Amino acid sequence: MTAVVDTFRSIVGADHVLADPDVCRGHETDWTGRFQGTATAVVRPGSTEEVGAVLARCTALGISVIAQGGNTGLVGGGVPRPGGRPCIVLSMLRFADLGAVDTQSMQVTAGAGVTLAAWRDHARRAGTDTPVDFAARDSATIGGAIATNAGGSRVLRYGTMRRQVAGIEAVLASGETVGSLAGLPKETAGLHWPSLLCGSEGTLAVVTRARLRLVPLFEQATTALVATRSITDAVALLALVRDSVTSLDAAEVVMPAAMEIIVGHLGRRCPVEAPSAGCFVMFDCTDRFDPTDQLTAALAADGARPLVVDAAVATDATQRSRLLDFRDRITEAIASAATSLGTPPFKLDVAAPLATLDDLIDTASRVADHDGARLIPFGHLAEGNLHLNFLGATDHVAIAAAVLGRVAELGGTISAEHGIGIAKAPWLHLIRTPADLAAQAAVRKALDPAGILNPGVLDPSPPDTSGTQEP
Ligand code: MLT
Ligand code: ZN
Repeated sequence: MTAVVDTFRSIVGADHVLADPDVCRGHETDWTGRFQGTATAVVRPGSTEEVGAVLARCTALGISVIAQGGNTGLVGGGVPRPGGRPCIVLSMLRFADLGAVDTQSMQVTAGAGVTLAAWRDHARRAGTDTPVDFAARDSATIGGAIATNAGGSRVLRYGTMRRQVAGIEAVLASGETVGSLAGLPKETAGLHWPSLLCGSEGTLAVVTRARLRLVPLFEQATTALVATRSITDAVALLALVRDSVTSLDAAEVVMPAAMEIIVGHLGRRCPVEAPSAGCFVMFDCTDRFDPTDQLTAALAADGARPLVVDAAVATDATQRSRLLDFRDRITEAIASAATSLGTPPFKLDVAAPLATLDDLIDTASRVADHDGARLIPFGHLAEGNLHLNFLGATDHVAIAAAVLGRVAELGGTISAEHGIGIAKAPWLHLIRTPADLAAQAAVRKALDPAGILNPGVLDPSPPDTSGTQEP
């Protein structure tokens, strides 16, 4: 393998090929500690040409390529997996370039390694804002967000990452570059690379740059944390709020078990109380004019009043940020609890029709009780997107089978925003027909005949090796 590593050194420079096992470890393990494998090297290209040369070499040598951004993925799609062919981690973090903000087209070009936070700060300095935001913003990258078609809290207003990509530059397994960064809002000329690559999880090409949409920067903001008697009431309340609050940016759901863990983690009392079978909703509004009256009027309206058990409203930036912590920092709280338990959390990111969310939470609670695990549910209410976290779970396969099976029966999806990765590949058949899967495999084969790009990811066929513990 030394000769192979030398080949990569000759392409990207010796400083940008990491082969020391201690140095590579951070790239070989996902941040939850749930997924892990070994790479021959971590290769850090600095240009599209270098990505092309590395991919062409890997195709010729039969070396798998796992493209990696900030390594914040939750389904094992961005780290090596045990067994199989030798692989490299292709770290895209050197693609950190951000172009000038074009306030006429409301677009900017960003490298795949730019973090969500850097994209947002850059946009804000030019008086614009970014339409996608989520808690891992300081590490998660544009390339990863495109690969997983990431969501986050602003989907309700602006849609997922797929809607934000106006142009893309990517490199095929052959080493050839495809796509365009022109960002034309209207163009009909056959295959649309952004549509094909968003959500493809590094299996069709490696994204190097994207032309991204921007949205207006609203200086005025109001946040409300509201308690309801049930998730069904929360859904009814959301419908009323959406109807009259035009500035609604986010409607996040926090179930009592999630509130309990975040309260403990922050060491702060929750300013509102919900019944044990109830739930909390965090409404966030941003606008050019102070949206407080609009939001509070909606929450106090005749239809809404019986649904709201308790509420706290914040307009001042510090108070808002303290309130938003009760949602934004739940993942951090779960990770910390898992570390104390000595076992990574088992995470299922799912979505179901809004009318079925109570059924989904009931199912997950029963499954958790049966396993002896502690269920921590929270998520993005408007999309019916629940993050079902199981702490101290023992039988991951049984939990996944029961919960994902029920999600499919309810007409939902087994992944709403985290992707399929390797974790959920065996369950793809629940939401995709054999014809869907065969067509997907054919597209993949056409673009990557040697099968080097992220093998195992999005692939429902049984793995060719053992050693992966996750379902
Ligand atoms: C979130 O909404 O906070 C993220 O998707 C992270 C998570 O599910 O843990
Ligand atoms: Zn989320």
